[in-house]
Amino acid sequence: MKHRFSPSRRSLLKAACGALAAAGLPGLAQAAPGKSIVILFSRTGNTALLAETVAKEKGFPLLRLQLQKPYAANYGDMTDIAREELRVDARREIATRIPDLSGYRNVFIATPLWWGHASIPMRTFLKDHPLAGKNIYPIITSGSSTPEDVVSDIRRFCPKASVQKEFWVPGSQAAGSRKELLAWLKAVGF
Ligand SMILES: Cc1cc2nc3c(=O)[nH]c(=O)nc-3n(C[C@H](O)[C@H](O)[C@H](O)COP(=O)(O)O)c2cc1C
Repeated sequence: MKHRFSPSRRSLLKAACGALAAAGLPGLAQAAPGKSIVILFSRTGNTALLAETVAKEKGFPLLRLQLQKPYAANYGDMTDIAREELRVDARREIATRIPDLSGYRNVFIATPLWWGHASIPMRTFLKDHPLAGKNIYPIITSGSSTPEDVVSDIRRFCPKASVQKEFWVPGSQAAGSRKELLAWLKAVGF
């Protein structure tokens, strides 16, 4: 299997280094102008921890994507279904009412990594809302896989958005990553 689900020490180190590198880039610390919103999909709560922290810390609204038909509760069944959905580029319809996003300049897109990519529900959202002209700030958790293909998905579905440096940690580290998250926020202008 290409993507392992348990975080290796190397990936944890890489995550920490990535966050520190982002925080250490002085040129990125320009204040991002305009209104901001956090848009979240999370199945087991790891990515939600990060999105909630950003929203609460900065006073941004948080939009949680709920599904019309939730996935099977059984993890094995569910991951098989999601893998097939990814293979055929399927949709998973969103039940949440999406507000008018035209007034927002900055959109935090918080999603878990599924089979190397953005989760199917977030892919569905982005296909319907390509966020043209906006700044996108990806927030990603995974078991251990690195987030490049999630960022590539966002760029592909949102070709006219400006996709900024992402924040990524293994899901098992989400609860303990507040300091790195706030450093990333500062580094990207918040
Ligand atoms: C369908 C599915 C596929 C996944 N694929 C991967 C993967 O390819 N690599 C990986 O490291 N983790 C993978 N994971 C683990 C999740 O990315 C990880 O547990 C994440 O933190 C879950 O976030 P959440 O709690 O916000 O849903 C997968 C999880 C699911 C449910």
